Amino acid sequence: MVRRLRSPEGQRDPLPVYRAFQELGDVVPAPWGGHFVTGFDLADQVLRGRGWLAPDIAWQERQPDPARWHAPATREMSRTLSRLNAPEHTLQRRSLGNPFGRGALEAVRPAVEEHVRTLLDRLDRELRAHGRADFAAVVADRLPIRTVGGWLGLPERDHDRILGFTHRQVFAQELLPTRSELAVSEAATLEMRAYFSALIEHRRAHLGQDVLSDWIRFWDEQHADDRDAADQALYHLTMFVTIASLETTATLLSTVVRLLLADPARWRQLRENPRHVDDAVEEALRYDPPIWLNSRIAAEDTVLGGVPVAKDGMVHVLFGAAHHDPRRNPDPGTFDVLRRGAHLAFGGGVHYCLGAGLARLEAGALLTGLLERFPTLRSAGEGPVYAPRLVFRRITSLEVTT
Ligand code: HEM
Repeated sequence: MVRRLRSPEGQRDPLPVYRAFQELGDVVPAPWGGHFVTGFDLADQVLRGRGWLAPDIAWQERQPDPARWHAPATREMSRTLSRLNAPEHTLQRRSLGNPFGRGALEAVRPAVEEHVRTLLDRLDRELRAHGRADFAAVVADRLPIRTVGGWLGLPERDHDRILGFTHRQVFAQELLPTRSELAVSEAATLEMRAYFSALIEHRRAHLGQDVLSDWIRFWDEQHADDRDAADQALYHLTMFVTIASLETTATLLSTVVRLLLADPARWRQLRENPRHVDDAVEEALRYDPPIWLNSRIAAEDTVLGGVPVAKDGMVHVLFGAAHHDPRRNPDPGTFDVLRRGAHLAFGGGVHYCLGAGLARLEAGALLTGLLERFPTLRSAGEGPVYAPRLVFRRITSLEVTT
């Protein structure tokens, strides 16, 4: 079933695979010893429960598979937020505060709307010149890097480079990366480390009134006698926030457009009722979440949905299957903008996504602009092309026309 999910058919339509998983139960043993969690309530319980931990470096050290868990590209992620547990995780989260609370979001909104305007100008030019355009490449990949780049002060000339190493580094975070994928990821990791280390060094020499300068001040104070420790914390934070924000948001932007264009009536109805733009974004997050899978380990011997899981045992939350659990979202295969359904696309508990508000803002601003400027937008060609991935979904191409 994992192979089916990664295949082009599974990427295009994962619903039959979700149903096959659900038929096997809420907690399904994986051939390599872990378990998949397919039911909504149990998925929620795992993400929020204190008995479930992130697979941190201490857990990775205990694993017998050095090729996977000791690979340099995997290790590089071990000190990032999503791989930390308390108390380190608590300190790192505290250092960030709530960067996208209501006030902060309103402060970034004008910049996001300006990025939307310029990207839609570009889409317009492409459509006029060629009659069709690749929405993923021209718009969806670009809005997140411009947004987070503006927020963190990542120069525009670096954006292609950042997108390049992000696309390649992500392989190390896949469920079962091959050796060659790990090698690609390792090369990208080296580029990424060089880039962010130089960025932090430069910013430290030119401190200003910006987000990264504030982080530098915080961590320099935490590690007043140890500049290396401050630099390490800053590197992991800056690198992770950047890469966590890019493909996830780009995939949401392409996915919501793909789902709306799949039926011309949906596009028309939303155009007539633009107050439902945010509902459309939420339904896209439920119907086809950008992250398909997230893993946790059992802190102690436990029982999940009647299935024993030993201490250190890994469970993989299948977000898509959970979102299509009919006990939580009736008639789950129907894309219904007015559903107001339940989803876990931004995770839950202490690791809840830091940038959920920003991603929602970007998606809402983009859809609003698209509906206004491209009322007759429709899909062109065969439909989207997906990267064969299981954890971070990625649409590499989405041809549109008017
Ligand atoms: C549609 C877009 C996005 C989706 C679907 C998404 C999804 C997620 C999910 C599922 C998690 C939880 C990971 C876990 O439990 O281990 C997470 C964590 C995180 N996200 Fe997002 N994310 C998105 C956009 C963003 C953006 C725009 C940012 C930053 C500006 C961001 C920054 C983070 C960070 C820093 C974490 C780690 C939080 C922690 O472990 O404490 N994400 N995200």
